[in-house]
Amino acid sequence: MGLRFELWVVFFFVTGIVGVILCDPQGFLSLSCGGTATYVNTLNITWIPDDDYINVGQTATTNYADTTSSSMNTSVRSFPDARARNCYKLPVHNASSSVLVRAKFVYQNYDKRKRPPAFTLSLGRAITATINLSKADPWTEEFIWTVSKDYVPFCLFHIPNGGDPVISSLELRPLPRGAYNSGLAGPRKNFLRKCYRINCGYTNGSLRYPLDRYDRVWDADEDFSPSHLSVPLYTKFSLNASLATEVPPMAVLQTARLLERKNLLTYDLPLDELGNYYIVLYFAGIVPVSSRFNILANKGIVRSNYTVTSRNSSVLHFTVEQVRGLNITLQNISFYPLINAIEVFQMVDLPPETSSTTVSALEVIQQYTGLDLGWEEDPCFPKPWNHITCDGNLVTSIELSGINLRSISPAFGDLLDLRILDLHNTSLAGKLQNLNGLLHIEQLNLSFNDLTSFGTDLDSLVNLQVLDLKNNSLRGTVPDELGALKNLHLLNLENNKLRGPLPQSLKKEDLFLRTSGNLCLSFSKNVCNSPGDAPIEAPQFTVVPERKHRGHMHIAIIFGAVFGSICVVMLIGLLVFFYMRKKTPTLSNTEKAEAEIRNWNAARVFSYKEIKKATNNFKDIIGKGSFGSVYLGKLPDGKMIAVKVRSDNTQLGADSFVNEVHLLSQIRHQNLVSLEGLCHESKQQILVYEYLPGGSLADSLYGSNSRKFTLNWIRRLKIAIDAAKGLHYLHNGSEPRIIHRDIKCTNILLDAQMNAKVSDFGLSKQVTEADATHVTTIVKGTTGYLDPEYYSTLQLTEKSDIYSFGVVLLELICGREPYNRRSGTPDTFNLVLWAKPFLQAGMFEVVDDNLVGDFDMESMRKAATIASRCVERDASIRPNAAEVLQELKESYSLQLAFLASNGQAS
Ligand SMILES: *[C@@H]1O[C@H](CO)[C@@H](O)[C@H](O)[C@H]1NC(C)=O
Ligand SMILES: *[C@@H]1O[C@H](CO)[C@@H](O)[C@H](O)[C@H]1NC(C)=O
Ligand SMILES: *[C@@H]1O[C@H](CO)[C@@H](O)[C@H](O)[C@H]1NC(C)=O
Ligand SMILES: *[C@@H]1O[C@H](CO)[C@@H](O)[C@H](O)[C@H]1NC(C)=O
Ligand SMILES: *[C@@H]1O[C@H](CO)[C@@H](O)[C@H](O)[C@H]1NC(C)=O
Ligand SMILES: *[C@@H]1O[C@H](CO)[C@@H](O)[C@H](O)[C@H]1NC(C)=O
Ligand SMILES: *[C@@H]1O[C@H](CO)[C@@H](O)[C@H](O)[C@H]1NC(C)=O
Ligand SMILES: *[C@@H]1O[C@H](CO)[C@@H](O)[C@H](O)[C@H]1NC(C)=O
Repeated sequence: MGLRFELWVVFFFVTGIVGVILCDPQGFLSLSCGGTATYVNTLNITWIPDDDYINVGQTATTNYADTTSSSMNTSVRSFPDARARNCYKLPVHNASSSVLVRAKFVYQNYDKRKRPPAFTLSLGRAITATINLSKADPWTEEFIWTVSKDYVPFCLFHIPNGGDPVISSLELRPLPRGAYNSGLAGPRKNFLRKCYRINCGYTNGSLRYPLDRYDRVWDADEDFSPSHLSVPLYTKFSLNASLATEVPPMAVLQTARLLERKNLLTYDLPLDELGNYYIVLYFAGIVPVSSRFNILANKGIVRSNYTVTSRNSSVLHFTVEQVRGLNITLQNISFYPLINAIEVFQMVDLPPETSSTTVSALEVIQQYTGLDLGWEEDPCFPKPWNHITCDGNLVTSIELSGINLRSISPAFGDLLDLRILDLHNTSLAGKLQNLNGLLHIEQLNLSFNDLTSFGTDLDSLVNLQVLDLKNNSLRGTVPDELGALKNLHLLNLENNKLRGPLPQSLKKEDLFLRTSGNLCLSFSKNVCNSPGDAPIEAPQFTVVPERKHRGHMHIAIIFGAVFGSICVVMLIGLLVFFYMRKKTPTLSNTEKAEAEIRNWNAARVFSYKEIKKATNNFKDIIGKGSFGSVYLGKLPDGKMIAVKVRSDNTQLGADSFVNEVHLLSQIRHQNLVSLEGLCHESKQQILVYEYLPGGSLADSLYGSNSRKFTLNWIRRLKIAIDAAKGLHYLHNGSEPRIIHRDIKCTNILLDAQMNAKVSDFGLSKQVTEADATHVTTIVKGTTGYLDPEYYSTLQLTEKSDIYSFGVVLLELICGREPYNRRSGTPDTFNLVLWAKPFLQAGMFEVVDDNLVGDFDMESMRKAATIASRCVERDASIRPNAAEVLQELKESYSLQLAFLASNGQAS
């Protein structure tokens, strides 16, 4: 056979057969942390500075490590701010594929203080490793992770007395689909932390890119095995299909360690910590006979009688649980056991996500504060956000003192696991509200605010122990229901304007009551009735109707539904009222109303047959919304129409439908999409609108056939003016006045000449509200456009439309969507929070790139100012529609003059 069996190791490295495909390092991201210049290294990998991938506003410093020991400079970024989230966001092009993340940490006395730091690092929600540069410097960590988003969040955290975290390089490498799947698909989504990647039989350093096209680093194995004699050997073999998922490089498979008869071959692999480990063994038949052997891990048999056929290859994946160290042993059965490569990974569990209800409530609260609290990713992991405390993945405490909240937003009511809520000194006014879902709350601190009444929520807070209402403006008497709170042991009502006898129910031994600083508060009935005292005000506290079956959600749902229905009933009532006032009182009858419409020229009643014919049996869908679908149609006279078919669950009662359609059909304005008619047959509620061929403003700005490029500044201003005219008419010209409630780019439509018209006013919105069955729907509206003040007051005014319109203006100026999760750092994610400060300061770097060089500074300044004023948090200082229109017109003339002076036609 010519094979020298006395050799322990087969080593094979023949020039000319390096079967590696040199492939473009596509998707590689290599960050030189703290680096200042882009460079290409000897492996042809391009390294770039990391500035664009760290949280903007991060106070990170750049340094260079001591270069006396090495010829190359190593840049180091350190993160001195112990409270900040020191995070990188590494973009991943193929979401839900696996990536390899490799980080190198170097201290090497860059700060000349000889104090190597220790710190932790996290990927996503999991703290994955503790780096202690006293133990090793440099230190490398590598992870394999299936990313669910389109980026990898990678963060460094201070530990007490650990010094400032440092990092030197960060590499991201996409892996082939399916690679390491059996290790990644744990019961909880986990990821893999590399412990070993050994190129068996190879002793001359590490192999990596381009020999491994995925740039894994395969280390020489001499440190792990007793002997490493080697000899060149040549065999051609095929890569077995089962190996294809991990795609080990040929160069790695071409070397092996081979066992002499009757011996054991053992790799002794110490591990950092007790845990579960995932092991991948690679075998390639590079000897001319088939090998047969047992495979053991820590003396337990993993596979007996394992066979590697000559010229063939295979891979074995398995896990070893709850171990601190690992011995991989090959035990001879017959012929010559061999192994080509070993990978060992620690399996790191991801903690469970915080519930999405909680996350969205917190997002709303953050937006409502008007501040960037740095709240992003998961609230509880890897470290709880500022102002928040968690118990596992439950948000149990929140503290926002000193932030100007002004009222308790309904979003607080969605934080169902809350035990402590501290909103002292947050300028809360009005009544204590929106807290009745908080069944677990134990401590409620609302002191130093301007609350005027107790509201009706308190009696549901059955676990409340501490209620601090000192230094508010509470009036009236203290509600009896407070005494029913069994667990309450501290009630502080100091410095309010309360008067009257205290309820006897509060006379309890275990309740500590503080009442000083009120008008007149005492358990004795007679004290406050002394002559000269004003009569006792009626109690402001009303008993909540009994709620049976109250689960956490139920309360929120009932609350929302009740509130929603009240709103809708009031609105419908209002509309009907106006309608009745105009018409004779008998017109509530459907037939009569339909007859009325028939007699009225503008809108007509279509038969279902006509509609079917016009839409060619509902062939062309041109839109879909919460209300149902929109179809393109053509009337016999050639007129194009958009046909909205309301889905069953959004239908109104027959009377309301016909009445409201009648009302809406009378609202006609050149900048409002007009209602042509309706069909109310075969249980269908169908609305017929004029068709606008230009699509929506959103299509033009962001759609697949985006015309953003052709939308120059003057056109954008024209669109804004058109829409403002439409809005102005709804607010002031129409009878009754209409609050649109859903102004957004998808509701601004364009005709063939790019004239803009506002659509979807009136009916559809009322119905979506009627449809709302839980409080969050009401709170959220169209995310990104909804007036933050509306969250808190739920009082709808024209100013809410103005806010939404301001967001549209910002979109026209900046050319981006109100929420941009996909790209951009946390600061840029919310358009209003991001763009407003720039625009108010007259800094136009946030203006859409497509507009650069195309606009007059004064024109832009005017538009930017009015847009910023529209999105003011305080509704009372927002302009009204007339003012917006006026400012936009002025901006338009400035731009016209600018174009004229540059000799351009508009
Ligand atoms: C690096 O890339 C250049 C151009 O892409 C190529 O000419 C060169 O041979 C490559 N060098 C190595 C070491 O791969
Ligand atoms: C090391 O970095 C310093 C500071 O940027 C620079 O001046 C010097 O040229 C660098 N040296 C090498 C060998 O790259
Ligand atoms: C990303 O996914 C596409 C389609 O699934 C695939 O063609 C492409 O090769 C993938 N790219 C990488 C870097 O994995
Ligand atoms: C880091 O390692 C050094 C030396 O092994 C040890 O003294 C120190 O306590 C470690 N630091 C931390 C935070 O574990
Ligand atoms: C080991 O690698 C170095 C370069 O990395 C090379 O110069 C040397 O010839 C190699 N030695 C053997 C025995 O292959
Ligand atoms: C190992 O497998 C071979 C054939 O695959 C079989 O002949 C032999 O009996 C097996 N040995 C043991 C110990 O299972
Ligand atoms: C690949 O290896 C497996 C066992 O590891 C074997 O069952 C299969 O036949 C092999 N495939 C080819 C194409 O040789
Ligand atoms: C692995 O083998 C070494 C030496 O044979 C032994 O000292 C060590 O305890 C073994 N480890 C395990 C986990 O069995």
